[in-house]
Amino acid sequence: MSTTLKVALLGAGTVGTEVARILDQDAAALTQRAGARLRLSAVVVRDTAADRGPHVPRELITDQAEDAIDGADLVIELMGGIEPARTYITRALSNGASVVTGNKALLAAHGAELFALAKDNDAQLSFEAAVAGAIPILRPLAESLAGDTITKVMGIVNGSTNYILDKMDREGADLADVMAEAAALGFLEADPSADVEGHDAAAKAALLATLAFGAGFSIDQVHTEGITGVSATDVEAARAEDQVIKLLAIVERSEGGVQMRVHPTLISREHPLAAVHGAFNAVFVEAENAGQLMFYGAGAGGAPTASAVMGDLVTAARRSLAGAPDHTVLSATAVPALPIEDAITRYALAIDVTDAPGVLARIAQVFADQGVSIEAMRQTGYPSAGSDAAASASLRIITHAGTQRALDATVAAVTELDVVTGITSVLRVEGN
Ligand SMILES: NC(=O)c1ccc[n+]([C@@H]2O[C@H](COP(=O)([O-])OP(=O)(O)OC[C@H]3O[C@@H](n4cnc5c(N)ncnc54)[C@H](OP(=O)(O)O)[C@@H]3O)[C@@H](O)[C@H]2O)c1
Repeated sequence: MSTTLKVALLGAGTVGTEVARILDQDAAALTQRAGARLRLSAVVVRDTAADRGPHVPRELITDQAEDAIDGADLVIELMGGIEPARTYITRALSNGASVVTGNKALLAAHGAELFALAKDNDAQLSFEAAVAGAIPILRPLAESLAGDTITKVMGIVNGSTNYILDKMDREGADLADVMAEAAALGFLEADPSADVEGHDAAAKAALLATLAFGAGFSIDQVHTEGITGVSATDVEAARAEDQVIKLLAIVERSEGGVQMRVHPTLISREHPLAAVHGAFNAVFVEAENAGQLMFYGAGAGGAPTASAVMGDLVTAARRSLAGAPDHTVLSATAVPALPIEDAITRYALAIDVTDAPGVLARIAQVFADQGVSIEAMRQTGYPSAGSDAAASASLRIITHAGTQRALDATVAAVTELDVVTGITSVLRVEGN
């Protein structure tokens, strides 16, 4: 085998060092699978003095990214962040080099421009590692299901928030206490806002929608709510009804476009996603002919994420040797992103009321007036924690499917009732 492809690695942190290890340790098998020797030609970092372990040769370490990119056939970007990653990927693609990245933040903001650039330069841009770490999900959506019609994708795609919600569910603990513990154990970033406010999951939702529906979507089109409003009372109420709360990234085909949303969601304990514990990820896919599919595994970590990077690298090498990069990511014409007001789901509400005759009937009438039909109503007989002292009962109402617009109007009208002392929780419900 005489062909050698030079590989520049931009970033040698958690994932990059594992990519270097696999390139080194599994060189023979990779050569066979790629059809060419994949030779590491440069490793770009900020701190060139730091030791990068036994698989990153010192002589390859550099902070001269442009030279490293210009000398490479394949470029792996594992630095993270928008800049300089965007500039470097632009340079690599403009050179005609194929690029593999795990950078969801960049692709969810500037994917369209980079996909177009890849196409113009007949280069491959691959990003399996950007969503759900080790789990092969982007290629199944784009390739394995290319002959089917995907209708909905629901994912647990942020391990930190799943760890927190799972712990709240198992231990009945408060969000603040579990977050403090998660931070101490390294399950949360120093600045946890991207995780707990849902932005990391929203970036992945935009990429899932892009692959599922063959049209470009960006993070600013995703309705995003994090887990900061989820209370121990919400978790306990869910448990009482054999449900669990998960932060889901949901993208679905709907009348006239695509719905993309990230929010805490009630699901039955019998739903496959309810069995995803700790920091694991899973993506649940519904397609017209395949039916329901679930992909499960490690959503982060050096070696698991490097596995996804290496799969992309071998594929990019093969396609580059064959002179046939794949540009079908954006195969469809533009598809509109629909506003959250049009989203159709079921809802669970907790409403504190004074204990007066006819309260249930008055509340039910408001729901009926707004066209939101009630599936179940239960009086728990005690006020929610932190609610008005005058409250003497808490109602839990589950609705049939309705639009967010109708639900918002219902909440506003219910709040106006003199017998209502507070709406303490509104959560969306998915599945049966
Ligand atoms: N970690 C995971 O589990 C995981 C999972 C899925 C996707 N990802 C994605 O993979 C990417 C890498 O993540 P990571 O966890 O490996 O990050 P990391 O541990 O923070 O490593 C980043 C690397 O990039 C280098 N770097 C950063 N900015 C640079 C710059 N301006 N110029 C040159 N080098 C620069 C750093 O150099 P120094 O070491 O010198 O600072 C470091 O080696 C990110 O896009 C992340 O979102 C990560």
